[in-house]
Amino acid sequence: MKVTMGEAVAFPESIHAYRAVPARKSAAGIMFACGLALGSGADAVRPVTPPPSAERGQMAYQKSCAVCHGYGGDGKGAFAPNLSPKPRDFTSGMYKFRTTGSGELPTDADLMRSIEDGIHGTQMPAWKGVLSYQERADVIAYIKTFSADFRTPPPPTLAFPPPPAAVADDKEVAEGRMVYMLMECWACHGGKGKGDGKSGRTLKDDWGYKILPWDLTNQAYKGGNDPQSLYRTFSTGLNGTPMPAYALDGFLVGGDAAVDPAKYQEAYGPAEVETLKAWLRAQPTDGQIQRMDAERKSELGERRKWALVAYIRSLVRTPNFFVRMFTGNPELTP
Ligand code: HEC
Ligand code: HEC
Repeated sequence: MKVTMGEAVAFPESIHAYRAVPARKSAAGIMFACGLALGSGADAVRPVTPPPSAERGQMAYQKSCAVCHGYGGDGKGAFAPNLSPKPRDFTSGMYKFRTTGSGELPTDADLMRSIEDGIHGTQMPAWKGVLSYQERADVIAYIKTFSADFRTPPPPTLAFPPPPAAVADDKEVAEGRMVYMLMECWACHGGKGKGDGKSGRTLKDDWGYKILPWDLTNQAYKGGNDPQSLYRTFSTGLNGTPMPAYALDGFLVGGDAAVDPAKYQEAYGPAEVETLKAWLRAQPTDGQIQRMDAERKSELGERRKWALVAYIRSLVRTPNFFVRMFTGNPELTP
């Protein structure tokens, strides 16, 4: 599923026109995420005059998108056979990168973000400097016509809290590692996050294509590797893929939870399992958590979720100068 740097994909000559603008996370994307945290009209796409038109969008779509996504929006454009992951099939109504709940449709703002920034590590280009804002809004109106699901009222966006003010320290990263073990992310992503977990080897996406769990040490995260984006990815899950959504409640595991070393054995050594046990012993028990009021429960869950974010970010290998130059992605930080 993953297209890594340097992996040769055979393109017909003219595709180079589409690759002129490398996918990158723009500052606007990060500001958008902050807007979310404050809950300030995150769902809105800036109004345009004239209002978005699917009819105009169709023209832009056929010129710029159909070559990959197909004239019928089914993801079977002329270039599709050469691409991995495959271009999105818009008739399915399934979108990976959302601020909405698992299984829900994306908001217009979610679509705008994917279209403006492109999707890292895949052939989905960034369209910001290529299509005008009006054209992007029109194209969104058009791609929504491919799935009848969009005729229903838009789903609510989830509330995303702001990240902790303090920069993650070693202690938070270490706690995040325990959360990663406890939540069993390793089953798919592997003990060191390299995407080589045992359960990850035979996965398929909902369109029937083989898919690998993301190598979390790879800097080119599709959904962005800034703290807010990571938090969003595992909170909402990626529709159409085996990547689950993890609700806050799932993080409220009590310190008295049983740890079966046999289960961890495929990814971790005995010493690491002991570290997990020791960490658990210092945590509130299930009974204590049950007795907590809603605010303290959410405090505990949030602390663990942000620690997990800090741990995942600690896994990212710092890209060297050449990688940054070729991916056009200088602002990605570990
Ligand atoms: C060179 C091929 C290519 C072109 C051209 C292209 N895309 Fe994509 N697009 C992709 C691929 C590949 C994916 C799937 C990435 C993945 O699944 O991780 C994708 C995914 C998407 C998504 C899905 C995001 C999500 O949340 O799942 C949207 C929306 C999208 N493209 C819109 C567009 C629009 C609009 C255009 C034209 C302006 C366009 N694409 C042109 C290759 C392309
Ligand atoms: C059942 C297998 C499975 C489990 C369990 C799982 N993941 Fe994933 N995860 C995936 C797959 C498959 C993808 C790739 C989706 C894609 O490429 O479109 C993925 C992608 C991701 C990404 C997205 C990277 C990007 O490109 O933006 C992050 C972050 C992530 N997983 C974190 C986690 C965390 C944290 C956990 C545990 C709380 C977890 N995953 C558990 C299968 C899994």
